[in-house]
Amino acid sequence: MSRVPWRLLLLAALAAAVVLTYVICAPAMLPRDDLDKDSSPKDGLSAKPPPAAHTKPSGIAYFLPIAEFTDSKWIRMNTILNKAARVCDTATLQSVGRKRAADMRCDITVKSGKGWINLCVKTRAMIQHLCETDGLGNHEFFVKLDDDTMVDPSLEEYIMREMSGRDVYFGYTPGHIEQHLRYRNWFPGPFYGVSANVFKQMCACNMPPCTEKLPWEDQWFGYMLGECNITREDILFDKGSIFHREYTAPRVSVKFHQYTD
Ligand SMILES: *[C@@H]1O[C@H](CO)[C@@H](O)[C@H](O)[C@H]1NC(C)=O
Repeated sequence: MSRVPWRLLLLAALAAAVVLTYVICAPAMLPRDDLDKDSSPKDGLSAKPPPAAHTKPSGIAYFLPIAEFTDSKWIRMNTILNKAARVCDTATLQSVGRKRAADMRCDITVKSGKGWINLCVKTRAMIQHLCETDGLGNHEFFVKLDDDTMVDPSLEEYIMREMSGRDVYFGYTPGHIEQHLRYRNWFPGPFYGVSANVFKQMCACNMPPCTEKLPWEDQWFGYMLGECNITREDILFDKGSIFHREYTAPRVSVKFHQYTD
């Protein structure tokens, strides 16, 4: 009987030791991702540009074409957009002036494709640049975003969980099922991507150019995969993960809505 309290005491001491060890060592056991977040810039324009996407720990390399009127504040507020590599073009950089050019914080600058109307040319140039520079690094996926997209961050987990190890082209479909059927060979511009192996196949192909008949980057992308005979599964998301912003500054009123057409 008298030995029981001693055992309890021993147990308590052990528990205390375990807790103490955890408290001391926990910071070192944080996943790389969290450490990265902690050291990310807290404030805006004076902060250093983020490293290019291929140095990020995420399994997805995001790319975000930046235009003259892209809202930098919107990007900083947005978990997914903020970790994308920002893709600029020389003509826009030359036309906007030094202050705005710095604010754009370009990670990649391509030589062609100024303005929304030339986004197809710019996207194609961006992909070629990534092919030439091994721009995906060891990421598993390539994703292209629009600068007014809002993405539910849980989509990232979903992609990593469901698509790892598969050769896929993924995106969402706007609107109704007829449109999905009609346009089933491409996914809309706000968010689409492919796995690294599909990307590698793209790089090996002489990609068709953007044309007047095919001026839209997202449609071109789907068309290009077809023309290049790229083997892949097409994966359709529930569009509930991708939103379009409505955002007004400076007192800020943010609304999100789903794409409907
Ligand atoms: C794709 O396949 C078609 C039909 O087999 C062929 O004519 C075409 O040359 C191929 N394209 C490429 C880029 O390999």
